[in-house]
Amino acid sequence: MIKVDNISKIYSNDSVETIALSNISFGIEKGEFVAIMGPSGSGKSTLMHILGALDTPTSGTYILDGKEVGKLSDDELAVIRNKKIGFVFQAYNLLPRTTALKNVMLPMMYAGMPREKRVNRAIELLEMVGLGNRINHTSNQLSGGQQQRVAIARSLAMNPAIILADEPTGNLATVQGEEIIAIFQELSDRGHTVVVITHEPPIAEHARRIIYLRDGEIVEDSTNHKHRRVKRGDE
Ligand SMILES: Nc1ncnc2c1ncn2[C@@H]1O[C@H](COP(=O)(O)OP(=O)(O)O)[C@@H](O)[C@H]1O
Ligand SMILES: [Mg+2]
Repeated sequence: MIKVDNISKIYSNDSVETIALSNISFGIEKGEFVAIMGPSGSGKSTLMHILGALDTPTSGTYILDGKEVGKLSDDELAVIRNKKIGFVFQAYNLLPRTTALKNVMLPMMYAGMPREKRVNRAIELLEMVGLGNRINHTSNQLSGGQQQRVAIARSLAMNPAIILADEPTGNLATVQGEEIIAIFQELSDRGHTVVVITHEPPIAEHARRIIYLRDGEIVEDSTNHKHRRVKRGDE
């Protein structure tokens, strides 16, 4: 699904060059659940932006589902970002004073999906993340964990093959964080490829594979034999 070959990313501002990623290579298969760990500044977000086709590497190749991302046109890139990849961020990035339902419907509106289909799918997704009883709550009327679940439902609107999450539990208490991770596990069981950036070991423990970054390099890429499954609580 994802193949990264010898990727480097160098940021050049004025006369200062920062090497954010240095000759990184790895592959991720369809349906894998991978955690990316590493200290602050190790290149995790830079890597996620490249995987999400939001940014391009300075050198190296990135093949996404058989296509070399560096060779795609702007239109093709836009389609990939909208349809193939779902993004989840630490700060949820929901529209304020807007209902959960509308937040989840938004990407489908941009995609021109008929209204009734949009509503039905948004409700189905909100039920899937355990918020069937909160669809008309606005963002400010929801807890952090609930807002993140709305954000996950929104990321799934276009049924993306890949879900990329950058510190999705960073603002949450442990219990809420586990609920989020349980949803990611379920998505990976259903065949979605899930890549979660975290610096919290208890969160990474749930992934089947952990890639460790340090100073822009992969220092370890290992199967997590003792990965723990979390059970989703009943709502
Ligand atoms: N837009 C940018 N311009 C210059 N340097 C950047 C930029 N974005 C990130 N960096 C630098 O690249 C390195 C990796 O950053 P980042 O990928 O955000 O790390 P992480 O997400 O692991 O904390 C850091 O040293 C950071 O300061
Ligand atoms: Mg980061």
